[in-house]
Amino acid sequence: FVLRVLAARIAAVRRLAECWEGRQVVVGTAIVHNGRLLAQQRRYPAKDAGRWELPGGRVEPGETEQDAVARECKEELDVEVRPTGRVGTDVPLDNGMLLRTHTAELLDGEAEPKAVEHHDVRWVAADELSDLDWLPADRVLVPALRELLSAP
Ligand code: C5P
Repeated sequence: FVLRVLAARIAAVRRLAECWEGRQVVVGTAIVHNGRLLAQQRRYPAKDAGRWELPGGRVEPGETEQDAVARECKEELDVEVRPTGRVGTDVPLDNGMLLRTHTAELLDGEAEPKAVEHHDVRWVAADELSDLDWLPADRVLVPALRELLSAP
């Protein structure tokens, strides 16, 4: 009996994991430079205008998450980045997608990211992170981002 219950539990967890993995991934990018994190301020849609987010967007078919990180940073900020790892947990979005955040570094440390599609961009220090009006999913990442910035 115990084994049967255990098997049912395992099957349920598997189904949940499959459902989770099947979600469309939106990559977020934590670009850290000189101890600060790059954040960008949305221009649209109206409900999100003025709020802050990490650069990123949907992973397109046939693309790896790292490809998407590099493409989105080029499109949104006009900079080349190199993905270096992951930070924080996956955060479910209201639209059923999943925000998964990668760390990245600027290939050219002198290049200044530009707000190509956004209202503004800024470099944020660890102690300023919680002052920004983040999108809800990005706000969840603030403690992990603070830890990332505080790491030696
Ligand atoms: O930028 P894009 O429209 O492709 O993003 C897809 C969805 O992911 C949007 O609903 C957007 O609000 C959300 N998103 C987010 N945080 C980010 C990037 C995107 O919540 N850092």
